[in-house]
Amino acid sequence: MRLVLVGPPGAGKGTQAQFIAEHHSVPKISTGDIFRANVSQGTPLGLKAKAYMDRGDLVPDDVTIDMVGLRLSEDDAKHGFLLDGFPRTVPQAHVLDDLLAEVGVKLDVVLELVVENDEVIRRLSGRRTCRTCNHIWHVDFDPPAVEGICDLDGGALYHRDDDQPETIANRLEVYASDTAPLINYYAERGLLIGLDATGPVDDVTQRAIDALRPLQHDQ
Ligand code: AP5
Repeated sequence: MRLVLVGPPGAGKGTQAQFIAEHHSVPKISTGDIFRANVSQGTPLGLKAKAYMDRGDLVPDDVTIDMVGLRLSEDDAKHGFLLDGFPRTVPQAHVLDDLLAEVGVKLDVVLELVVENDEVIRRLSGRRTCRTCNHIWHVDFDPPAVEGICDLDGGALYHRDDDQPETIANRLEVYASDTAPLINYYAERGLLIGLDATGPVDDVTQRAIDALRPLQHDQ
């Protein structure tokens, strides 16, 4: 399965990516997670990306594309992957098509998580992420047993810098201008499945697994 998850910031891509990737036994490749790991380690890539991320802008394509190309060439991605957060612009989608064509494969499906903006703002305002395993929690919708501590590995939870109200507003604008055109791009190629991503996390996961099942049978 070669799958892309697309949707506005806070739609639940990272949350669902964990479950869907596990269900299909493919690696989850999140450009946001890779950038954040580089920022926290202070690498040259992280230093380049940080200012863009803090403003809620997209990191320039040349930086992002090289990074994804390298990650997709690793062994674990040879037989499938779930991309979370890439592509995010039509030019990035062209590059992904080219990268896959070079190795003679194609995308199977693009799953769009559909959620209204007011729900997205509620989700992002209460998000907490584990510093060690990156598991995603929410203070109201999916709280850990002990505040500030990850149930899975005891790691400290943090509130992302780009989840401040003014940054969220900019990220939503950037999504509408730069990323939303991807929806048509993939619909025209017959790859798009739109998924209602409202309601409890488990219900959304079940809907996603049901929507992807016919593709799994085809393989
Ligand atoms: P990235 O990390 O990809 O951020 P994003 O796309 O804005 O998406 P988020 O991670 O904010 O949200 P999500 O949809 O994953 O939601 P989540 O599951 O966490 O990118 C960050 C930055 O990196 C970008 O702004 C950009 O600067 C840069 N970048 C990344 N990729 C790039 C690219 N390709 N090109 C250029 N720049 C790039 O859920 C949110 C919250 O809601 C959580 O608390 C969760 O618990 C809760 N939740 C989830 N589902 C539900 C539900 N069903 N009900 C209630 N709560 C829910």
